[in-house]
Amino acid sequence: MACNFVASFFCLFFIALLPLASFAKIIPQPGSKQADKITALPGLPQTLAQLSQYAGSVVVNNKLGSSLFYYLIESSTLSVKKPLVLWLNGGPLVSSLMGLIEIGPYRVASDGKTLYENIYSWNKAANLLFLETPVGVGFSYCNKTSEMQQNNDAKTADMSYTFLVNWLERFPEYKNRDFYIAGESYAGHYIPQLAQTIVERAMPGSVINLKGLLVRVSNFLHLNFKVSALQLIKIYGYLLNFLCRLGTQ
Ligand SMILES: *[C@@H]1O[C@H](CO)[C@@H](O)[C@H](O)[C@H]1NC(C)=O
Repeated sequence: MACNFVASFFCLFFIALLPLASFAKIIPQPGSKQADKITALPGLPQTLAQLSQYAGSVVVNNKLGSSLFYYLIESSTLSVKKPLVLWLNGGPLVSSLMGLIEIGPYRVASDGKTLYENIYSWNKAANLLFLETPVGVGFSYCNKTSEMQQNNDAKTADMSYTFLVNWLERFPEYKNRDFYIAGESYAGHYIPQLAQTIVERAMPGSVINLKGLLVRVSNFLHLNFKVSALQLIKIYGYLLNFLCRLGTQ
């Protein structure tokens, strides 16, 4: 009798712990905000000397040794009052650092050595977080090569979510901040799936304050949460075929 009681108690205890274990995913991190601070950048113009920026890696799976690379550029004015925008490029497997050159505060000059200011930079209105996801893209890596060969959209959403939860531990000032996810092209798949993951796992007290999504140049007509890269190629194939036929008529 006592034995049964003790067994049920432990059972209940572990059931109660389960959601925490699967939702929180706080992983011990070797990196720190201080170490990630960018203090100098070659060729940075004087007008951008005060730019507050950070770059580094966040471990998303310590068994497989997976780590995602990010680049944060804070807003040039009143950063604490501005929202956080996560930017994702598409591909699949294209680096989001491409977006940094598109919407970020500087562009690379034709000499290939200096940077010049992009006066239309989004960091006038928001704090910009560029994320290279999944593992295998850009500086994001996994110490188990076979893992990288098994990338898919669901895994990408899962590891990007784990990244966010752990990144917010390194930058707690962004907890509960208005949060947007933006991007282009194949990110039209990454973005809604990451948003879905955030919404599904949001528990009372969740610190990710998702406000909106922005997708540029994506094929929304065929957006399907379960579509794979291969299906997408097929869809684009159909579209191209259709456009070609239109062109020859
Ligand atoms: C991957 O392996 C390298 C070399 O052993 C190690 O320095 C690094 O910390 C590992 N990365 C992760 C995320 O575990």
